[in-house]
Amino acid sequence: MEENTFYVTTPIYYVNAKPHLGHAYTTLVADTLKKFKRQRGVDAFFLTGTDEHGINIERAAEAKGLPVSRHVDQVVDEFKAAFARLGIEYDRWIRTSDPHHEESVQKLWRILDERGYIYKGSYEGWFCAYCNEFKDVDEREAVTDDRGPMCPIHEQPLDRIAEESYFFKLSAFQQPLLDLYESRPGFVQPDVRRNEVISFVSGGLKDLSLSRVSVKWGIPVPDDPSHTIYVWFDAVTNYISALGWGNHRYQDFDKYWPAFHMVGKDILRFHAVYWPAFLIGAGIELPRMVFVHGMLLRGGQKMGKTLGNAIQLDVLHRYFTNDQIRYYLLREVAFGQDGEVTYQGLIDRSNSDLADGLGNLASRTLTMIRNYFRGAAPRPWGDQNADAADVTLQIIETKRRFDREFDALNFSRALEAAWAGIARVDKFISDKQPWNLAKDPSSRPELESVLATAYEALRHLVLLVAPALPVTSREIWSQMGLAGDPLRLDPNEARWGEPLDASPIDRISPAFPKLDKEKTMTEIENETAVEGAKQQESAAEQQAISVAPESAAPPTAQVITIDDFVKVELRAATVLEAEKVPKADKLLRLVIDLGEAQPRQILAGIAQHYSPEDVVGRKIIVVANLAPRKLRGLESNGMLLAASVGEDGRPVLATFSEDVPNGARLK
Ligand code: MSP
Repeated sequence: MEENTFYVTTPIYYVNAKPHLGHAYTTLVADTLKKFKRQRGVDAFFLTGTDEHGINIERAAEAKGLPVSRHVDQVVDEFKAAFARLGIEYDRWIRTSDPHHEESVQKLWRILDERGYIYKGSYEGWFCAYCNEFKDVDEREAVTDDRGPMCPIHEQPLDRIAEESYFFKLSAFQQPLLDLYESRPGFVQPDVRRNEVISFVSGGLKDLSLSRVSVKWGIPVPDDPSHTIYVWFDAVTNYISALGWGNHRYQDFDKYWPAFHMVGKDILRFHAVYWPAFLIGAGIELPRMVFVHGMLLRGGQKMGKTLGNAIQLDVLHRYFTNDQIRYYLLREVAFGQDGEVTYQGLIDRSNSDLADGLGNLASRTLTMIRNYFRGAAPRPWGDQNADAADVTLQIIETKRRFDREFDALNFSRALEAAWAGIARVDKFISDKQPWNLAKDPSSRPELESVLATAYEALRHLVLLVAPALPVTSREIWSQMGLAGDPLRLDPNEARWGEPLDASPIDRISPAFPKLDKEKTMTEIENETAVEGAKQQESAAEQQAISVAPESAAPPTAQVITIDDFVKVELRAATVLEAEKVPKADKLLRLVIDLGEAQPRQILAGIAQHYSPEDVVGRKIIVVANLAPRKLRGLESNGMLLAASVGEDGRPVLATFSEDVPNGARLK
């Protein structure tokens, strides 16, 4: 690696379906990090791309009735268009079907083979085509239903495989990997993921099946083309093939490697165990870090195609700008943890932080400068009064904190710091009331000082937040009369009060639209009701599940969208204890096992029809995310489901006809 370079990668995306917000997430974060580094003068290189081989892609093409290569080209174009639409500026796009990539993969294979880490054997077992991973059914990695063993992540039947296969001697790497995690604690981050990996590797490593004879769409094994190379071996090699390792297409490996990998927690093992093992085996320098982020959730579940609950990018773009989307994801979801994303949350953040926060500070400051100083921004000079000096100090401290948090990938906290700076300047303006100072000519010096401080603070803050708001920071910058591109100016080189070559302020327009929440939500709900149904349909198709509609179902009073439904968390539970609540003839107090660390207490109005003995040990269905309520001084943490039957509304408990584990979610 040359000095002052930074190489950031995202996972490469499967081309079995069009991109959704979950895919955009890692890519947007990596793009923001690249912009941050480049703004600070670092030669940052950002790689993303597509993972195009494997049985799942073969099947997706088959379902569309297209030759595989046509199908992958189409989906790659969709990914590229989606990322361009989001304002993502990658430096290189790698496709695993690129000839130079194939060359590198075969080269890595040959090296490992020559070093004695690859041998031929035969494999018999279960495989998830969606994870592209062998599943150990005996070790309960898979759950079983009437279609046979299922993948617990994708809820799809596993494929049974029995064929000749080459193997990688992963078992030989247990100690080297443990030594790696020990000697470089920052190699896998955050710590919770590092610990997960250490515990997995400590449990022992089995050799890894590294080729398939039954999959045709893949890279042939060198000297044995009846086998194709295991897709994950093929895929992780992208991080070096894209720089020209093992091929002659590029010469960037020495300059940029080792990489800073950003991956979702769903693919931790491949990046933190297999990939370093391949590299150690081949004698190639290891990555700088594997940073593992959490999942974007909807209704408590991972957003994705298989579950049909993804936020679609075309819907988002109809209502929100790129900067609103980028800012929301960075600010709302603590990077490294799972985070629920909702349209409501996006509207709220956009209105409060962007329109009312930064946007309002910019327009009020610039409007006053235009009105009171004919657009010529006054500059801070000499001795400031105590309040202005305090604002100055706080903004300088904000800059330090922002960089510290950003470097530690705490994007949310970095932005929180910037917004505390915005709030400080806002308060300063409200306290000083420049509109009153402007009425009195003798207050002119103070008016000048207040607006000079506000303008200067705004200048530093806009530079700071530019990687997170690339479009609007440019817009505000130009409304401020400032030349150049804020994304190309290092905030740490901007000095407080330095002379500026600014042109007069004349064109002022709100940088962020204020959204009418109710109207926007109604429009989105109408649109996503159709979209959600389509997604559910295609997810159901994919899962080959068909649920026959109940005949004679009574008409429903109100139609709700899938968004409404996923808010309700229905789960299976077992009643552990039950007793009557004194002086309440309808209420039973139940202690239930919801599969959580601790049992929960709920109160149920069923005492006139069920005795405590009737319900203990029964499997019930509970609304698990209902806000706690107090009844007769007792807290109820959830609500059980029962049909209301007959004229007196007799409750009949909802249950299952088959065994279901506690905590299982109903969808
Ligand atoms: N092709 C493999 C990765 C190979 S990398 C050498 C793959 N592809 S994927 O398209 O299924 O997912 C790639 C990544 O997309 C995930 O790891 C994650 O970074 C991102 N996400 C997909 N859905 C997501 C969410 N719901 N939330 C956050 N990130 C998500 O796995």
